[in-house]
Amino acid sequence: MNILHVSAECFPVAKVGGLADVVGALPKYQNRIGAKSSVIMPMYNNAFVNENTFETLHDGQLKLGVTDFGFQIKVLKNLVLDFDTYFVHVKELLFKDYVYSADDTDRFLAFQIAALDWILQLDKKPDYIHCHDHHTGLIPFMLQESYKYELLNKIPVITTIHNAQYQGWMPYEHLHKIPEFNLSNGGLLDWNGVINPLAAAIKCAWRVTTVSPSYMEELQQNANGLEHLLLAENKKFVGILNGIDAEVWNPKTDQHLVKNFNITSIVSGKKANKDWLCKTFNLDPNKPLIAFIGRLVGEKGAELLPEVFKAVLKELDVSLFLLGSGFEETEKQLLHLREENTGNYNCHIGYDEKLSHIVYAGADFLLMPSRVEPCGLNQMYALRYATVPVVREIGGLKDTVTDINDDGFGIVHKETTVEDIFKAIKRAEQFYKDNKLFKQNRKTMMQIDHSWEASAKTYINLYQSITQTND
Ligand code: ADP
Ligand code: GLC
Repeated sequence: MNILHVSAECFPVAKVGGLADVVGALPKYQNRIGAKSSVIMPMYNNAFVNENTFETLHDGQLKLGVTDFGFQIKVLKNLVLDFDTYFVHVKELLFKDYVYSADDTDRFLAFQIAALDWILQLDKKPDYIHCHDHHTGLIPFMLQESYKYELLNKIPVITTIHNAQYQGWMPYEHLHKIPEFNLSNGGLLDWNGVINPLAAAIKCAWRVTTVSPSYMEELQQNANGLEHLLLAENKKFVGILNGIDAEVWNPKTDQHLVKNFNITSIVSGKKANKDWLCKTFNLDPNKPLIAFIGRLVGEKGAELLPEVFKAVLKELDVSLFLLGSGFEETEKQLLHLREENTGNYNCHIGYDEKLSHIVYAGADFLLMPSRVEPCGLNQMYALRYATVPVVREIGGLKDTVTDINDDGFGIVHKETTVEDIFKAIKRAEQFYKDNKLFKQNRKTMMQIDHSWEASAKTYINLYQSITQTND
């Protein structure tokens, strides 16, 4: 079985968030169970690309409206990933140092067209095309409708929704850039008067998956305008919980850590990482350390954090650390908070992969007060590193974290409000004091298996269940 994943991100090549982690791990686990899974993604001008050498596999020409672009499909010269990875290089559109930008419409249109043009000329075509998020949302439509790709329209195409908040909306002036199709089917592109790639994917893909079962249910109530469409297409939906790459995220071997540990050395291992963090960021290592890692955006409840932290620092005996970037105003407030709280609070505004690993290992608790969380990987990394997740009961967090009061191992709160988050942190402070239970709980968490093994199989079963008719 030959599967081609199409994605804007893939770890370790280009990562903005969890999408990269998923696409960087799922193919590897699929290959282990006998599939031949590979990835096609845009080529970016970033450190990974600059540090590796590539060769060109294919040279092509594509048209976006009236403009012609040359493109190349490149592959890595040395084997550095666990699966074949193909890079679409369109010099004028894609070769930039950041993944997303203001001119995304043309960049991702070109990416999708180039990917399909390349597939079209392959002798051995993929058996399944697996698209991720709206950046690849026009592929199911083009496969089904564009005359140019008629030869490919029997290839089952699956779309995974990692986040339905972002849909790739584009005005109709871009319509002529999509390879020619019967205009009377143009409605498939439309949702509320604009071209909506995610909606088009939901309509045209053979199957649509969400990254957790609860998120699938929630989307039918709230999907940033797509609720009715999701209800209408309900039959082809399935929620499959993401896994984690248990090799990249393994406290026993993780190269980023200050000290490695396993289930028999949790206390000393976590202590060494916590001590390093506390020393580096001037925090008290004797207090429970509560951390947040993530994008500082509304979905993550991030703009409430400065107020929550202020209240916590005033009333509770804990240390707080935040790693993240996003809303400018939130960043400013978080930085400002350092002035009056030296010794108990610190933050690193920015993206830092290495530091994130040390935080998962060194923190006692990981905070995730998300408003929306399609799956969330942070809580699963936290569990693997024996860090208690403190999460809101939503989406994938609901599917992966059970409260200590319900025979579970985490702390769960109902709402994304300052009050509820504060109360959850207060419970964390209390839990930390129960030394015996807290220690035992660390062992329990480390034994939970969230590796991709199970879900990689579920995806393979899903592909196999697809019949050769687009029902
Ligand atoms: P999302 O994709 O919505 O951002 P996920 O929980 O699925 O959320 O994945 C987030 C991923 O990005 C995790 O691997 C997390 O460790 C990482 N991450 C987020 N922010 C940062 C940051 N500032 N520095 C390092 N890693 C980060
Ligand atoms: C999205 C979601 C996140 C999920 C990730 C990987 O970025 O916001 O919840 O874990 O995709 O599927």
